[in-house]
Amino acid sequence: MFKISQRRYLGNKNSILPFIENIIKNEIGDFNSFCDIFAGTGVVGNYFNQKNKKIILNDLLYHNFVALNAFLNTDDFNKEKILEIIDKFNSLSIEEDNYFSINFGDRYFSVDNARKIGFIREEIRELFLEDKIDRKEKDILLTSLNYSIDKIANTVGHYDAYIKKEIENRSFKMEFLDTDIEKNRNNEIYNRDANILIRDIECDILYLDPPYNSRQYSDAYHLLENLTLWQKPKLEGVAKKFDRTHIKSEYCRVTATKSFKDLIINAKAKYILLSYNNMANKGNSRSNARISDDDIFRILGLRGEVKVFEQEYKEFNAGKKRRDDNKERVFFVKVEK
Ligand SMILES: C[S@@+](CC[C@H](N)C(=O)[O-])C[C@H]1O[C@@H](n2cnc3c(N)ncnc32)[C@H](O)[C@@H]1O
Repeated sequence: MFKISQRRYLGNKNSILPFIENIIKNEIGDFNSFCDIFAGTGVVGNYFNQKNKKIILNDLLYHNFVALNAFLNTDDFNKEKILEIIDKFNSLSIEEDNYFSINFGDRYFSVDNARKIGFIREEIRELFLEDKIDRKEKDILLTSLNYSIDKIANTVGHYDAYIKKEIENRSFKMEFLDTDIEKNRNNEIYNRDANILIRDIECDILYLDPPYNSRQYSDAYHLLENLTLWQKPKLEGVAKKFDRTHIKSEYCRVTATKSFKDLIINAKAKYILLSYNNMANKGNSRSNARISDDDIFRILGLRGEVKVFEQEYKEFNAGKKRRDDNKERVFFVKVEK
């Protein structure tokens, strides 16, 4: 079974979950609701997911929303049916080309695997249109497909580019998802801009993990977004990306500080935790932090006293050089104003 943490995702917080948990234990204690508003893979919200807690999860990217629904929403599903479909998909061998193999075959995947992936995506679409699977079952199948292709992609962990060398025909295998809907009872999941959603929600703990530099997640994960949406758009450039204007994040632009201030002012939470990297002016310009420490302190300070917790951390930076002075930081505010 695929666990929610079993995918490669830039800036994922899988390795610092106990660190976040300790801050919450020491500074807050018990709580009823937790909002992971830049959820990405959802590993943080998932970590605190329990029967008697409400977890609100949100991400701007649709393929993340689908995965969050698959792992963490309240809907029931027919496990036997999904297992049968997955078995059938795993035993396929496809010889005809399709949208996916034409665009991504011999680039991100071997042609054989790309044909299979495109064929399976089309099958999932048809099963859903013919009412043979419902929305939850579709989300589970799509997420299983995304997790399985992540394991065989000819990349360094994201889809900004593919590795330009001969592709081995790695074996493709879909699996069921490790999910427990009993725990999901009170959860809410959204696919909105955090600055819009913040006006409609309330929670005890608001956890913020926005992108911190100019790298857009829609560039890094365009392929999964394309496969999940399956609108077969026209693609551009060597990396075969679609037009992503509508899913660019303000947090990766010079306007990040303005968006961050708007988010903090509008937050209805008892506590705010912010993960933000300490890379300001340390790496290359693309990895420089968009919001300065001074601005973080000033803006969070509008709501209460700010504390900072630090932990040494090995960043997943797509296999490139490791920065040993990297610290994962969590800013903490008990909201008083
Ligand atoms: C650092 S990642 C979060 C990683 C996540 N905590 C994890 O462990 O997987 C930042 C996420 O914010 C999302 N994002 C960027 N701008 C957003 C916005 N304005 N509203 C909602 N989500 C946004 C990105 O798609 C990305 O998944």
